[in-house]
Amino acid sequence: MQRVFIETYGCQMNVADSELMAGVLERAGMSLADRPEDADAVILNTCAIREHAEQRVLGRLGEFARLKRARPGLVVGVAGCMAQHLRKRLLDTEARVLDLVVGPDGYRNLPDLLRRAAGEPVAHVRLDRDETYGDLEPKRGDGVRAWITVQRGCDKFCTYCVVPYTRGRERSLSLGELLRQVRDAVAHGYREIVFLGQTVNSFHDGTHDFADLLRATDQVEGLLRIRFTSPHPSDMTPRVIAAIAECEKVCPQVHLPLQSASDPVLQAMRRTYTLAQYREVVAALRSAIPGLALSTDIIVGFPGETEQDFERTFAYLREARYDSAFLFKYSARPDTKSFLWPETVTEAEKGTRLERLIALQLSISAERNDEWLGRDVDVLVEGPARRGEGQLYGRSPQFKAVVFPNDGTPRGELRRVRVVGATSNTLLAVRSPRDAERPAPALVSIG
Ligand code: SAH
Ligand code: SF4
Ligand code: F3S
Repeated sequence: MQRVFIETYGCQMNVADSELMAGVLERAGMSLADRPEDADAVILNTCAIREHAEQRVLGRLGEFARLKRARPGLVVGVAGCMAQHLRKRLLDTEARVLDLVVGPDGYRNLPDLLRRAAGEPVAHVRLDRDETYGDLEPKRGDGVRAWITVQRGCDKFCTYCVVPYTRGRERSLSLGELLRQVRDAVAHGYREIVFLGQTVNSFHDGTHDFADLLRATDQVEGLLRIRFTSPHPSDMTPRVIAAIAECEKVCPQVHLPLQSASDPVLQAMRRTYTLAQYREVVAALRSAIPGLALSTDIIVGFPGETEQDFERTFAYLREARYDSAFLFKYSARPDTKSFLWPETVTEAEKGTRLERLIALQLSISAERNDEWLGRDVDVLVEGPARRGEGQLYGRSPQFKAVVFPNDGTPRGELRRVRVVGATSNTLLAVRSPRDAERPAPALVSIG
């Protein structure tokens, strides 16, 4: 067992977990393969959040079944939330292809599990209240941004959501472990870190809360930017809002999932806030953080969502003027509370509601981006733009994608540019005339 190919589905926490797995494998003397064809083992790190996410993985397993017919020794594993969700059952239903099922708390022993799976089917799906992987070094990809998981699991038990069942109880790493990880990432050349957690702002290590973590990280030399996702509206305390506002490196960008703007639906979802309380959090954030970019998640067609409930969400989307929004059709997930509730909104009606929200949000996103026309933004350069010859690509503090003519700015440096064009998802810019007159900002140089 030498070369392992890892394919990642789902949220950023899964991306970070794949980097964690890669680190564990490398320390055991294994290496990562770029293609499944070159690997002795393939691992799909999966998501279970909606039914569609699981169907994609089942389809992919069909492709690996074909690969395995040509190479019978290939070990095929499913890791992550879908592995935890379906557990040993997956080994039975996918017996023709699957050798290993490993849940989110089983990655520490991954090399051993892979070796054993080469001999007989293996499942490791025990959730572990104490596992945080706080001592392990991930192997990160190229780029300017490092993902750092500050907390695992979730204790909120929203009635539609599978995460508490796939990732177990909420537990935080310690502030000390996290600062070590941040410094390590900076020493490896990363200029931006993104703290991850299902309710990241409920981080608490017994002594320190999320505000303490932001303030301590803000002091790390060589780090340029701090982001985090996803905070829960109910955990957005005045302390946390003050820390976001006051820490120089914390970017003016918050993803604040709403789910619905109707109180009866929020209550049935067990979201723990009312629309009025959510509004107050948004008002407090906007007044404390000038130029804040706000985004959200919304579910349409939750059981019992009436036309009137939906209209409230539609109206609030217009009111909130989010920079962007992730919009989903409700998907009933086995194990969750709402799985047992009869669905009252047809698929067709969910589709209609979703389309209406998408159209509204697209026009708002375009308007929000138009507000940047003529203004200067500091871009953290990530490299050449994928489309557009001779263009560089990076992100503004608000996490807007910005494209501008390649002036030789290296990856990982800040460049001030002037926005001259905008679409609903990208800002087009030229070198800022003001910046051309000034010396480049002094940056801490790191190896
Ligand atoms: N922890 C985050 C969200 C994690 S899941 C939070 O609480 O905000 C990401 C998004 O997927 C959720 O915000 C929700 O909008 C969506 N989602 C979760 N379960 C879903 C389901 N059963 N059907 C449709 N969308 C769902
Ligand atoms: Fe799921 Fe709710 Fe936890 Fe988010 S807060 S992960 S939606 S249970
Ligand atoms: Fe999916 Fe698990 Fe993330 S269910 S959204 S991969 S926490």
